[in-house]
Amino acid sequence: MSKNSYQLSVISYQLSRIGKWKIFCLLLTVGCSLLTGCRYDMQDQPRYKAYKKSEFFRDDKAMRDLPEGTVARGFLREDKAFYAGKKENAGMTTTAPVETTTDASGNTLVSSFPDAVEEFPVPVTKELLDRGEERYKIFCIVCHGPVGNGDGMIVRRGFPQPPTYHDDRLRNAPVGHFFDVMTNGWGKMNSYASQVPPADRWAIVAYIRALQISQNPNGMSPLPMTKTGNTTNTTVTPSVSPNVKTQEAQSR
Ligand code: HEC
Repeated sequence: MSKNSYQLSVISYQLSRIGKWKIFCLLLTVGCSLLTGCRYDMQDQPRYKAYKKSEFFRDDKAMRDLPEGTVARGFLREDKAFYAGKKENAGMTTTAPVETTTDASGNTLVSSFPDAVEEFPVPVTKELLDRGEERYKIFCIVCHGPVGNGDGMIVRRGFPQPPTYHDDRLRNAPVGHFFDVMTNGWGKMNSYASQVPPADRWAIVAYIRALQISQNPNGMSPLPMTKTGNTTNTTVTPSVSPNVKTQEAQSR
């Protein structure tokens, strides 16, 4: 007898011992469990995957566009002065449109800033200035130079020269204008909104004002300094509430 046929006869002997009734029960159980495996589970709900095509919507996109004006949670940014450097009624005033001219080096010159805020929306402290100096030296010095004359290292290597901060036009420009330049870019200059969060942008504005005063100490009004009394704390916290704004000030 070969090994295989021996095994077969052993199995059929065992099966005959178990009995037909028991085999029937066994098959029934297996069959039932197979059948229940075919049910339509909640985890398999029909759904679209992001970026998939849709046969249903007319624009063929499964993903729907956000309704106009949708604001992500925590990003309402109602405080226009802090987040945009603009006055509350910006764009609504009936002042004549701002005229833009270009100087010899191709820079965009504007000298009226009807919508820009004139006062800092954050307290100007020693810490804010220190933070501004640090950020200025990271993000701006390469083009605008250490004092703001527009003679940074990149400019010396051929990048278009920015205007100096030390002419009457920019000395008289409201603080909101400097914030706006960093937020939205200006002419040939890129926006720094993605690298410099709003609170830091205000710190840089304060530092630029300090630079301007340093070059023209008698011709400009002093910075509206607020004493904090805590000189060890070097972090910049905008004086805005509620807390969500402070968190958000970390993002852009
Ligand atoms: C890569 C070079 C570069 C860097 C870095 C740079 N800028 Fe500029 N900036 C320019 C140039 C070029 C202009 C002139 C743009 C124009 O008028 O077309 C300019 C213009 C300006 C002006 C003048 C706007 C006006 O009304 O004429 C301000 C203010 C300013 N930059 C602030 C900043 C600040 C603050 C930073 C750092 C966050 C910064 N810039 C970083 C190149 C740079």
